[in-house]
Amino acid sequence: MSNDILFSPFQLKNFTLKNRIGVAPMTRMSSVVDSVPRQDVLDFLVRRAENNSAIVYTEAIVTDYESAQGYPGQARITTQRQIETWKPVVRAIQQHGSIAILQMFHCGRMAWPGVNPANRTIGPSTLTPKQDNPLTGAPYPVPDEMSRFDIEHVVNGFVETAKGAVAAGFDGIEIHGAHGYLINQFLSSYCNQRTDSYGGSVENRYRFAHEIIQAVRLVVPEDRLITFRISNWGVADMEVSLYSSKEEYQQIVRLLSEEPLDAISVSTYDFSQKAFGTEKNMAQLTREATDLPIMICGQIYDRASADKALEDADIILSAKSILLNPNWVADLQAEKPMKKYASEEANIAYTETPLS
Ligand SMILES: Cc1cc2nc3c(=O)[nH]c(=O)nc-3n(C[C@H](O)[C@H](O)[C@H](O)COP(=O)(O)O)c2cc1C
Repeated sequence: MSNDILFSPFQLKNFTLKNRIGVAPMTRMSSVVDSVPRQDVLDFLVRRAENNSAIVYTEAIVTDYESAQGYPGQARITTQRQIETWKPVVRAIQQHGSIAILQMFHCGRMAWPGVNPANRTIGPSTLTPKQDNPLTGAPYPVPDEMSRFDIEHVVNGFVETAKGAVAAGFDGIEIHGAHGYLINQFLSSYCNQRTDSYGGSVENRYRFAHEIIQAVRLVVPEDRLITFRISNWGVADMEVSLYSSKEEYQQIVRLLSEEPLDAISVSTYDFSQKAFGTEKNMAQLTREATDLPIMICGQIYDRASADKALEDADIILSAKSILLNPNWVADLQAEKPMKKYASEEANIAYTETPLS
C-alpha cells in the first residue's frame, strides 16, 4: 500500500483542501463568442471537482483586449456577461468541496497574428522565438518593445481581470509567470535585453512581475489566494533553459517568497528530471529557496509518480491525465495501473468534442 499523504488534507492559507490533487490550467480555445468558453468546457471543470480534485484551475484567461491573447478562442473575465458566465461554474466547484482558481495570462511575444482585437504584439524587447509558431507554421510577429505606458496598461489588465475573478467568486487567482509568456519573457535574459530599470540584473528583470503581484494583491481580498506559476521552459524554443543557472532560478524564487503570494506552482515537462546540471529536480531546487507551499506538475500519471512527486512538493497538478481520464483521482486512490499519455493525445482539448 502507498502511504496516504496524497489523500490527506492540506491547509492552503484559509482553505482546507480535501487532498493534494489539482487540475492544472488548460487552455481549450473554445471561446468563439464574446470571450466566453463553450458550456461543455465549463462543465468539464465542474466534473473534475465532482470527481474529487481538491483544486480546479481554469484555462489561461487573457488580461486585455489589445495584446494579451496568444491563441484563438481564449476567454476573458472583465465584462459583466463574462463574470456571470463563470459564477455558476465557481459555485458548482465549491459545492463539490473543491476550490476554484483562475489563471491570468498575457502572451507577450508568443502572439498569434490577428486574434487580438487591437492586433498588436508586445514584449520586453524586439526579439522573436527562433522557431516558427508550431500551430501556424509561420514565424512569430516581431513584438514592439514595451513602453512605460504599455507596462502600466498590462499591469492594469491583470488588475481588471483579478477584479473580474473576485466578482465571479473565485477562491484564488494565479499569475502565469511560466512557459515563455510575457512575465516569463521579462524574467529571462533570453527574451529580455532591455537597458532600462526592467532589464539587466535579475532584480530589474523581476520588477515587472513584482509590480503585477503588488497591484493585483490590492484588489484580491485577504481571504482569497494568489499563486504564481513558474517554469524553466517555454512553449517555443523548448530546448532553451529560460534561467541561466540554478542560482538565478533560486534568486527569483526567493524574490517571489517575499511577495504576498500563497503558493508557487512549478511547471515541468517531467517532474523527475534533474535541473540545471544538478542532481536535483525543479521541486527540490524550489524547496531549497522558499517556505511557500509548492505545487508540482509534469508527467504525473499514476500513484507511484504522484507519491514520488509529493516527496518534494505539497500539491500535485495534472494536465494530460486528468484531461483524458475523468476518473483519474479515483483511479489514483485505487492504485490502478495507468498509462502515460502522449502530448498529441491532449490535442483533443482543442476540438469541439465534449470531453467526459
Ligand atoms: C491541453 C493543454 C492546455 C494547457 N494550457 C495551459 C494553460 O492554459 N496554462 C498553463 O499554465 N499551462 C497549460 N498547459 C500546461 C499544463 O498545465 C502542464 O504544465 C503540462 O501539460 C505538464 O503537465 P502534464 O504532464 O500533467 O500534462 C496545458 C497543457 C495541456 C495538455
